[in-house]
Amino acid sequence: MRSQSEVARSAFRWRAMLWSMLAIIALAMALPSVGYLVANAAQVYGPDRDFTEERATNPRSDMWRDARVGQGGFTTQTGPYITNTMISNIGENYRQLREGPIKTWGGWFLVLVIVAIALFAAINGRSRLEEGRSGMTVERWKTYERILHWFTAISFIVLTITGLSLLFGRTVLIPMFGHTGFATYAQFAMNLHNALGPFFAVGVILMIVLWAKHNIPNKTDIQWFRQGGGIIGSKHPSAGKLNGGEKLWFWLGVFAMGLIVIISGFIMLFPNLGFQTREVMAWSQIFHAIVALIWIGFFFGHAYIGTLGTEGAFEGMAHGRVDTNWAKQHHDLWYEEVIASGEKPISEEELRRQKRPAPTGGEAPGH
Ligand code: HEM
Repeated sequence: MRSQSEVARSAFRWRAMLWSMLAIIALAMALPSVGYLVANAAQVYGPDRDFTEERATNPRSDMWRDARVGQGGFTTQTGPYITNTMISNIGENYRQLREGPIKTWGGWFLVLVIVAIALFAAINGRSRLEEGRSGMTVERWKTYERILHWFTAISFIVLTITGLSLLFGRTVLIPMFGHTGFATYAQFAMNLHNALGPFFAVGVILMIVLWAKHNIPNKTDIQWFRQGGGIIGSKHPSAGKLNGGEKLWFWLGVFAMGLIVIISGFIMLFPNLGFQTREVMAWSQIFHAIVALIWIGFFFGHAYIGTLGTEGAFEGMAHGRVDTNWAKQHHDLWYEEVIASGEKPISEEELRRQKRPAPTGGEAPGH
């Protein structure tokens, strides 16, 4: 008969071995393609580019290249755009970057994230309630917090679908819907993306303002990361209202990436503000696309953990209350605080009774 610690150690060794294999496979897949793309990018965009072929087909190519180096000439016209330059390279460079590495790496990145989540789910399974349900619940998210979360989440999903349609539409959607069909849809997607963006920005900013206080890092988070959020070792690590992983999502995902995407989106949406040169516009598009792609990858992880990944987490954001066993297992320090503050757990049955409409007793006598 093996002792409990032996079983835990062996389970840990198995998981560690599987994770190492996974990491090696991912690296083996990623390295050659990254190497190829970097080498290719250096060839196409770098200073070592060989022009022999261009010179052979177009003897004047050197002259056009000289015109495109961006040196300013004389003109009486002024404005924020480079009015004194005959040919501006910025637009074409941006286009090549977008059509090349951003689309290729971005697309593969999202595919890899989905594969990694699927493998994680297959290896680790769902994080179950170890003690089962207690049937008693405590409040986790207030109504206004849930409205804010779901408004922002639904906007994010619509922005993701429309944004990815605009980035990958030419490659993926034109073969499916044809040029006319795609043009109609792309126009609609762009208008929706542009109209929803500012409302989503308000949601993200409110989230940052209202939830920053729950996300202040502390020593418990270090221990949480050391234990891989419960994957490493047999005991679930301690956590306050939010754990280390959630704080990472908040600061890196919602705060940092959120602000970059919002600011770059704002710059592109209002090009008439006067300070946007062509460089500023091109860099905004590049940052917006790259950071949004990384954010979407993070979002896949967040959405998986909040639904299929963790038993009992979704109901907190859906109905506002969580089972006390979920609270003790995932956020023990927060649960202690809630109880110390005097809140009494309420049974699910009592909650249902409270929600039921009061029986109508008919007309009062004399009326
Ligand atoms: C289908 C999409 C989504 C699902 C299923 C989902 C699910 C959840 C759940 C279940 C929680 C509660 C976790 C807990 O009680 O510990 C949560 C918290 C949270 N969610 Fe989402 N979410 C989604 C999309 C988003 C999006 C798009 C954003 C931001 C742009 C977001 C930002 C947050 C934040 C900030 C928290 C609080 C935790 C923290 O501050 O880190 N969620 N989500």
